[in-house]
Formats: sequence, structure tokens, C-alpha cells
Amino acid sequence: MRYIGNKENLLDKIYQAMQSKNIKGNSFFDFFSGTANVGKFFKKLNYQVYSSDLLYFSYVLQQAYIKNNEELYFEKLLNKLSFQSRSLFASPLYKVVEYLNQIEPINGFIAQNYTPSGTQHLEIPRMYFSDENGKIIDAIRQQIENWRIEKIISENEYFVLLACLVETVPFYANIAGVYAAFHKKWDPRAVKKMELRPTEFIINDFDNQCFNENSVNLLGEVEADIFYLDPPYNQRQYAPNYHLLETIAKYDNPVIKGVTGLRANYENQKSKFCNTITALQELETIAKFGKYNTLILSYNNEGIMPQEQIISILQAFGKVDLIEFDYTRFKSNNRGESKHKKMIKEQLYILQR
Ligand SMILES: C[S@@+](CC[C@H](N)C(=O)[O-])C[C@H]1O[C@@H](n2cnc3c(N)ncnc32)[C@H](O)[C@@H]1O
Repeated sequence: MRYIGNKENLLDKIYQAMQSKNIKGNSFFDFFSGTANVGKFFKKLNYQVYSSDLLYFSYVLQQAYIKNNEELYFEKLLNKLSFQSRSLFASPLYKVVEYLNQIEPINGFIAQNYTPSGTQHLEIPRMYFSDENGKIIDAIRQQIENWRIEKIISENEYFVLLACLVETVPFYANIAGVYAAFHKKWDPRAVKKMELRPTEFIINDFDNQCFNENSVNLLGEVEADIFYLDPPYNQRQYAPNYHLLETIAKYDNPVIKGVTGLRANYENQKSKFCNTITALQELETIAKFGKYNTLILSYNNEGIMPQEQIISILQAFGKVDLIEFDYTRFKSNNRGESKHKKMIKEQLYILQR
């Protein structure tokens, strides 16, 4: 998934850096989980994984990839649906996804608030999704919820289906990367009919845990050999930038506002890492009260916490190494039209107690 700070392409480098410093361990806390990609990687390496994020859509992904630890068969549901898959060898998840791809569209909260037809009364009608895709999203979201209420899917099955939706929606959103604005013309991707995509199952030997919390509040609860910190690195809060994924995941009919239909209330999802002073204070709290052997902080040379202050805080608790590597980031202009390359230095601060 496209996500600011997604570490998918850096995972091998992070792991190599850990090996070069001889960092060992069996348990791993992905403190700022986002897409859950980091937790997934370490789950595959058979670490006991803990993960958390302030955002609920991230929690949905964590439930599907980190917490769920079994292949799912959707037995109750498939027994009930009188539905013939087009594929002979389809997996149970694939069959359910295929079923969801042919249900009747519904004019629900997403269609009514984020498509041109639903918002034609506004001065600037919202063009986040095509009329057709807005209704498809509503239909799939409501169907998944109804199955949960009727108890014909388990908790794990529920979250895996929601994760399929959260992972699919970005491919059809008419945006430049974040949901803080929509394009005023249709991106060709956004006018294609949405087809739900199945996700993967990751299974390891542990009882992995995930949370939808300010991770700093979990310091008394979670103990792990490695704490991996990948906080926001500038003032931009994540909640408004991903408000639509949050609303699709929660489907809670929120009060919304402004041209872009932002969730009006995200007070409890504001991160202290988006301000230099509070970020440094939080970092110190984590380093001091966390129960870990190794703390790894992912950051970069454009971050709002200055390097000398990070090092000075961490050094009070053990030996600190800084590993840097060049990373090419692609930046779109404001309208998301073109991309230019930018080199930044990705940094790993490694604190060993
Ligand atoms: C740089 S992103 C993490 C990206 C992630 N490593 C990935 O690969 O997708 C930072 C994340 O931290 C979350 N966040 C910010 N402050 C937090 C806090 N105090 N507790 C938990 N999550 C927080 C944001 O919601 C965001 O998802």
C-alpha cells in the first residue's frame, strides 16, 4: 500500500543492519505499525510480534496479518452462500472475494459523501471515488459487517475481509497518494470498476498481539527483545491524510467537514511525534521505561528531531550506533501530476542496553 513512511522497500536493509550489529532476539514490537509491513516481515522470520498504531485501519491490517495465525476456511459462510465459484481450485478466501465482487452496489455513506453524484449539492462535488465504485465500497463494507453480526464469520475472517477492502480501495482512489485532497480530473485508475483483491495469510509459531493505541501507553504491558520505532518524521498528522481509509475501516458515519469531507474529530489520534519538543520527550519516555534489549529508531535526515538530540537522549540508556543509507524518494507535485527523484538519508539509530 502507498503510505507515507512505508518501510516495505527498506526491510532487507533494516535486517542487514541488525545482523551487522549482531542483534539477536525472539520478540519484536512494531511500535508504529502503519501498513503492518514491518511486523509481517518479522512474523515471517518467526519472531513473536507485537504491533500497534493510533489508526484503526492500521489495526485492521495488523489483525489480518499479525494477530491472525491460521489459514481461514470460511466454512459457515460458504455453506450458507449458494454461490458457484468460476474457478475450480479457488481458495476459500478467493471464493468469498469473488462472491463480494458480484453483490448489488448500495448507496451508503461513502457514495453519499465522496462521489460526484452523492455530493452534487456541494460547491465542489467530491471526486474521491467514481459513483460506481463508491457504491461498491458501501455494499462490500456493509455485507462484511452483516456477516459478523449474523455470526457466520469469525473475528479473524472478519478482519481478513476488511483488510482485503482496505488494501484494495487505494488502487481506485482518485488521489495523489494521500486523502487530504482529490484530483479535479479522473485518474484512469479511479474510473475502472473496483474488484476486491484477496490478501495473504502469514502463519508462525507464536501468539502475536496487536493494538489500536498510543504505543507509549503500552510500555508497561509489552515486553520484547527488540523495539522498532518508525514514528512520523514531520508535522503532518497521519489521521487527516488517511481519513477515508479510516472511515471505510470503522464505517461509523462520522461527522465530516470541509471541501474534502475530513473526519471532524480526530483529537485522540494526534501524534506527539509531529512536534519536535514533544517527540523528543516521547522518545526519552520510550527509551527509559520500555522493556527491551535493543531499540531501533528509523528516521531520516529531514526529520524534525535533530540528530544530536536523538543521540544524546538514547546514549543515556546504553550504546548507540547510527547507520545511514541513501534512499531515493519520488515526490509528486501538488496536483500529483509528475514525480521527481529526491535523495534522502535513511537512518537507523540502534540502542543496545
Ligand atoms: C512512518 S509511519 C509507520 C510506517 C510503517 N513502519 C510502515 O512500514 O507502514 C508512522 C505511523 O505511526 C503512527 N503513530 C504516530 N504516533 C503514534 C503513537 N503515539 N502510537 C502509535 N502509533 C502512532 C501513525 O498513525 C503512522 O501509521
